[in-house]
Order: sequence, then C-alpha cells, then structure tokens
Amino acid sequence: MKSDESKSLYDRACRSLATGVSTGFRRNVTPVPLYMERGAGPYFYDVDGNEWLDYGLAWGPLILGNNHPRLTEAVTQQMTRGYTFGAQHHGEIELAEKMIEVIPGAEQVIFSNTGSEAVQAALRMARGATEREKIIKFEGHYHGWQNNMLVSNHPSPDEFGTTVPDCGGQPPSEYALTLTCPWNDLDALGAMLDENRGEIAAVITEPILVNGGSCMPRDGYLAGLIDLCREHGAVSIFDEVITGFRIGLGGAREYFDLEPDLSIYAKAMAGGFSMSAVAGRKSVFDALVDGRTGHFGTYNGNPICVAAAIATIEALSEPGVYERMHTHGHAIREMIERAAGDRKLVTTGTGTAFHLHFGLDKPPASIREVMQADDETGTAFTANMQERGIYNLPGGRWYVGATHGEREIERVRVAIEASMAALRPISAPTEN
Ligand SMILES: Cc1ncc(COP(=O)(O)O)c(C=O)c1O
Repeated sequence: MKSDESKSLYDRACRSLATGVSTGFRRNVTPVPLYMERGAGPYFYDVDGNEWLDYGLAWGPLILGNNHPRLTEAVTQQMTRGYTFGAQHHGEIELAEKMIEVIPGAEQVIFSNTGSEAVQAALRMARGATEREKIIKFEGHYHGWQNNMLVSNHPSPDEFGTTVPDCGGQPPSEYALTLTCPWNDLDALGAMLDENRGEIAAVITEPILVNGGSCMPRDGYLAGLIDLCREHGAVSIFDEVITGFRIGLGGAREYFDLEPDLSIYAKAMAGGFSMSAVAGRKSVFDALVDGRTGHFGTYNGNPICVAAAIATIEALSEPGVYERMHTHGHAIREMIERAAGDRKLVTTGTGTAFHLHFGLDKPPASIREVMQADDETGTAFTANMQERGIYNLPGGRWYVGATHGEREIERVRVAIEASMAALRPISAPTEN
C-alpha cells in the first residue's frame, strides 16, 4: 500500500501536534500513521488513495460503519435544532428510557462523553453509595487513562500481583486505593475481599477481557464475582465500553444473563459520536439523587450525541442485526483457524469482537496466558493483512460491524490465505 502522502502529513503533524497523533494508541497501528480522507460503510479511504476494508471500526464505535443513512439523518436533523443547550431536552429522556428498555436490570442511567469519564462517574457513585474508598480492578484490564485506573494493564511477570502504573506521571498516591487482582480466579478475588473486609467500594471488570486479548470469562466466573460483591457489600461494575451494544443489544448482561450493580457504556453506543453512560441499579444512583455525591460535565447529554445514540440503538434493534454480525465474525475466525494449518493458533472472543493468538494451544484465560503468545508472528500476520487492504488493530484484534457482508467475506478469505502463506515457515523442532 502506498503511504507517501500519509508519511508527509505525519512529519508535518509532528512539528505542531505533540506525538503527531491524538491518542497514544494510534501511533503504531500501521507502519506509518494513516491519514483518512473519507469513509463509506465498512470501507475507508486514505490520502494515498488506498481503499481499506475496516475491521478496526475506529477502535469499536463504528458498529454501523461509516455514513449510515439513519445516523446521518438523525444528527443532521438535530444540527438544525441546536448543537448544545447546557440544559435539558427531550432526547435525553428518550435515550434513558430506551437504554432501560434494552439493558437487562438497568433501572436508571447517567450520561457523559467518554468511556474514561463514565468509569470515573461509576467509581465515584460506588464510593458515595458505600462510603468506602478502595477499588478492585484486574490485571490486563483497561478502564481509561486516569491515574487510578491506568495500572497493571501490561504487567511484567515480576509485577504480577501488584499495582503498577502504565506510564510516567502517575504518582503512587493517586492509585493507592486501587488494588489489582488476577482475573478469572474467584479464589483470588474472594481472598482480596476478605483481606479488605468492609473497605472495598467496588469491583470493576471488563466482562470479556477484550483489551487483554478477548479472553472469555470461565463458566460461572462473572456470576461468582457479582455474588462475592453482594456478600461483601461492594458495588459490582461491568465495564462494557467495548462489549456494550457490540456483543448484543443488552451487551454482556444479555450475553451472559447477568445483572451487576452498574455497567458502563461508550464506543458502539453512539455509532461514532462521543457519548458514554452508566446504567444500573437505582439504589446506587440514589447516592447522586440525595446528594451524597455528584456528577458533572458541560457536554453531558449533548443533543447531537444523544440523537446519534438513539439512531444507533434503533438501527441495532432491527431483527437479525446481531445474528448477522456474529455469523460474519465466526466465519472469519474459522477461515483464520483453517488457514493456519499446522501452526499453533487460537481465536478468542465472540463473533463481533475477537482476537487471534499465534503460538497458543488453548484459548487464554488471562493476560498472563496471553503474554505467552507468539507476538512476532501475530504482528507479521497483521502487517500482511494490511498489505492486502484489510485494516485490523494491533495485537490481532478484530471488530465486526453491521455493514460487513458477503462481498467483504470473500475479500477477507483471499487476504487471510495469502497472509498466512506469506508468513515465515514453521520452524522444524530442533534436536537437543
Ligand atoms: C473497556 C474500556 N473502558 C474504558 C475505556 C476508555 O474509554 P475512552 O477511550 O472513551 O475514554 C476503553 C477504551 O478503549 C475501554 O476499552
């Protein structure tokens, strides 16, 4: 793929825009950060004239693809009525009612703008409601860039079992109340809750560990986590920033038939507009209602983003949408597994959000197991796919959207077979 124009824009950007990109995660997705010109359905087009078949979906939000007519119409209509009011409007009630209708066990919601913000709102409500301070999170789980949550996402083996910051500029005092637990291990969680009896305000988890390689929860793990929280008076929180509206209309609650106290939504919720929410049990929101804690934000409930969220949820509510997306994703997973032949490879996750891991015998159940994968081959495969115009995310992550169809499947199949064939041959076992 040509990238001269992107390269020249990136060099120019680096002179005025620190790092050249707008979030650290975008720096190494492709060899040169790509500059986009436009998108259409499941495709986008960069400044060098390349057409990309998009399985990155803007890191999750573009579940309806680009320029979905229903979403464009809703947003355009709202633009003519007003951009933002700093006051109440009909749409926020409509969206709140819609979310309560489609999210199992949700009694109330609040709105904010990004996933990181909604995570902080949920933690504050949990602390307000329980009058406790400590939070338990899990190794390898990402809950936004704030100091209290950006810890132990990529711990090295000697850091397992501790809480470590993921970058500089994070003073220990700001994550001193965050405890990090291994995931998918109810004994470890039970022990941590016991050791901190009466002190844990909340336990927060990605219900599927998408950010750490799409690891699935073991049978009964999430239900056990909710039970343990209940037993210890801690608020259970599913961070559904990725899984929400992606693995089903009701997200992980519907997928696993579970009702934690709170769930957090962003990304796919508004189809590409900046919108997030916390949904869950009224008893937790009461801490806001009666003034034990507070929730603020100039752009919360922004009418344009609210209109986008309503249109997205309506489009996703059409019969068969999730079945088609899951079928599409599972077809790709099967193609990848088949093309791998004798190579060790597993795919993990669901049909709409999944990872592939070279070098593993069985689906990993935690970040510790994901770290055993053969990243070198994984990175080479992603690069080979990108050479063939298939855009997916680092670490072997794929997102499927509602506009991926039959035409795309055929193109992906050809690219997978060629990309697998172009990998370095499997090395013969060495004799000792
Ligand atoms: C599970 C999870 N939680 C929270 C966040 C933070 O969301 P945002 O980037 O919108 O602040 C992300 C972002 O990728 C996420 O994947």
